Amino acid sequence: MLAVDHLSHRFRNGNEETPVLHDIHFTVSKGEIVSLLGSSGSGKSTLLNLMAGLMKPSKGSILINGHPIEKMSENQLAEFRRTHIGFIFQSYELIPHLTVRENVELPLVFQGIKAKIRKEKAVALLTKVGLGEKTEMFPSQLSGGQQQRVSIARSLITEPAIVFADEPTGNLDTKTEKEIIDLLLELNKTSQITFVIVTHEIEVAKRTRRVIQLRDGYLVEEPLEAGEDE
Ligand SMILES: Nc1ncnc2c1ncn2[C@@H]1O[C@H](COP(=O)(O)OP(=O)(O)OP(=O)(O)O)[C@@H](O)[C@H]1O
Ligand SMILES: [Mg+2]
Repeated sequence: MLAVDHLSHRFRNGNEETPVLHDIHFTVSKGEIVSLLGSSGSGKSTLLNLMAGLMKPSKGSILINGHPIEKMSENQLAEFRRTHIGFIFQSYELIPHLTVRENVELPLVFQGIKAKIRKEKAVALLTKVGLGEKTEMFPSQLSGGQQQRVSIARSLITEPAIVFADEPTGNLDTKTEKEIIDLLLELNKTSQITFVIVTHEIEVAKRTRRVIQLRDGYLVEEPLEAGEDE
């Protein structure tokens, strides 16, 4: 499903180079839910953005369903992202002047799907994430946890092969955080959707069966319990 193949990344600002990721190598199978754990600055978001095709790596390869995404042109990549990849942001990134349902429908608008079908799909997904009663409200009328549920529904509407989430509970209190992780675990279990969830919280990471750990841009090989100091 996902293969990260000897991936390295450095940022270049003028003459200055900042190495951020060093020879990262792992695979994620279809239907897995994996946490990507590391302290601030360890390179989690950089790795996630590379895997989601939002930028190109300095070295190495990222394969999604066998497609090396770093070799695609900008147009190919945009199309590939639209059809294969879902993304959940820490700050939800909902469009304020669209209703909850319209926000969820938006990725299908870009695919030219008919309004009736879009609406049916969006309402079904919103019901699944527990927001069946809120479809015609605006994001500002919802709590943070509810807004994140909307963004989860939006990430799933194109039936992506894999969903990447960057600190999806970073803006939420502990109780709401637990509910959102519960929802992701349930979606993974019932729908076999593959998830990669970035977090700096060991409590969140421990809830997924598998944890990939980064430290200073290097993959940590030892199991989570050993050597964990957060
Ligand atoms: N555009 C950029 N140019 C230069 N350096 C960058 C750029 N983006 C990130 N970095 C550096 O790369 C390193 C890793 O950043 P990254 O955002 O991937 O960390 P992170 O693990 O997501 O941290 P956090 O938990 O704080 O979100 C940091 O040292 C950061 O300063
Ligand atoms: Mg980050």
